[in-house]
Amino acid sequence: MKIGILISGGGSNMVALVDAVQSGEIPDSEVAVVISDKPNAEGLEKARARGVETVIFERKGRTREEHDAEIIAELKKRDVELVCLAGYMRLLSPSFIRAFPDRIINIHPSLLPAYPGLDVHERVLAAGEKVSGCTVHFVNEDLDAGPIIVQCEVEIYEGDTVETLSARILEREHATYIAAVKRLATEFTENTEKS
Ligand code: GAR
Repeated sequence: MKIGILISGGGSNMVALVDAVQSGEIPDSEVAVVISDKPNAEGLEKARARGVETVIFERKGRTREEHDAEIIAELKKRDVELVCLAGYMRLLSPSFIRAFPDRIINIHPSLLPAYPGLDVHERVLAAGEKVSGCTVHFVNEDLDAGPIIVQCEVEIYEGDTVETLSARILEREHATYIAAVKRLATEFTENTEKS
């Protein structure tokens, strides 16, 4: 299964996925490309250091549709079969979602459907929640609302700040994302063998 990963920043989830693919923990897969909308995303260097090709598509001066069309073309050129959003901080256009039906997934740092959108940890702490976590889900046209693949709960401690909570959740995101992609890769291989 050829995987394309979209990032905007640090890329720790991307690194977790690349390492799991390269070690064989995620079976029969290859990370074909890492794409960033930010030229200075720290994850780009981490991908290159692991031998993964990177491409940058800045949004500047383009409509959302034009920007997405460039990314879709790059993914299609490389025969990507699963698109993983890993800290990619843009909403995908409907044409992007139609280009990869049921083949785009995202990781979000809350227990969806609770707390979709931005500033998640601030809102979770302000509400006095005792538990938060992360969710890997299919991406559809509604924000953070596609079918859930896997979730992981993380306890909130007294005195937690946005920094401590986000770091503790991020740590758990990695294994959660690997588990979700592993499941999809296994299904993909089974389906390919049947057809
Ligand atoms: C992660 O916490 C991810 O869940 C979040 O951004 C962070 C990226 O970290 N994504 C979203 O909030 C998407 N709406 P990373 O670049 O180190 O993987």
